[in-house]
Amino acid sequence: KKIYHYNHLTSTNDQLKKLADEGKGEGTVVVAEQQTAGKGRLGRSWFSPPGAGIWCSVLLRPTVSPAHAPKLTLLGAVAVAEGIEKYTGLQPGIKWPNDLLVEGKKVCGLLTEMRAEVDSINYVTLGFGINIKLVDFPEEVKGKAITLEGVLGKKLNRVGLLACILNAFEKNYLLFLSKGFSPIRGKWEELNVTLGKMVTVTSHSGTVSGEAVALGDGGGLVVRTDGDELKEFLSGEVTLS
Ligand code: BTN
Repeated sequence: KKIYHYNHLTSTNDQLKKLADEGKGEGTVVVAEQQTAGKGRLGRSWFSPPGAGIWCSVLLRPTVSPAHAPKLTLLGAVAVAEGIEKYTGLQPGIKWPNDLLVEGKKVCGLLTEMRAEVDSINYVTLGFGINIKLVDFPEEVKGKAITLEGVLGKKLNRVGLLACILNAFEKNYLLFLSKGFSPIRGKWEELNVTLGKMVTVTSHSGTVSGEAVALGDGGGLVVRTDGDELKEFLSGEVTLS
């Protein structure tokens, strides 16, 4: 499997999509020192200054229906959390769907994109961005973001950490292919910091508050609203209250 390393790209996900369209295989990895147009979820941008973090995307070609895609993002969050834990000893918590938090602040975000037919996935690009070096964050994320070196109080070897994460990725993906989602779900539930909490979820259908009670079958977040109704969200932004 090949790892493509670049000094700068617009976005590692976009570059990996190009390679995927050229027929590159599962497990192909793209990593860049800097992204000039890093993408976040929900149309946001992702701050990716040179050398300050790990900006990386992994190519998957699972032969499953597109309905399984959200589970792959949850798998990605578990894998990155395990890699960070193994390499640094810090245990990040997962905020649904896939933000990794340390000390309540965001240290990593994941963005899954896919090319699919109605009933089959052509490919998935699973991108993750990890904040590592202390930097001046843009105003919008200041106060909500944190860096691994800031927390650890020492320098971190990015290559060593990335190797650990990619190993965890492979291990969890093989587990998913052989045993299905349930072992990954178990680990996600263990690492999550969302279930059992009062949350506010903002999605295209509006804003709802209530208790986050479960991870749905498809990977959605089930919320018991203040009006005692159960609602499942497949995407959206969660605020813990
Ligand atoms: C989010 O939390 O909103 C998701 C952030 C995802 C950022 C990563 S960095 C590598 C990959 N390439 C991108 O353009 N975005 C993802």
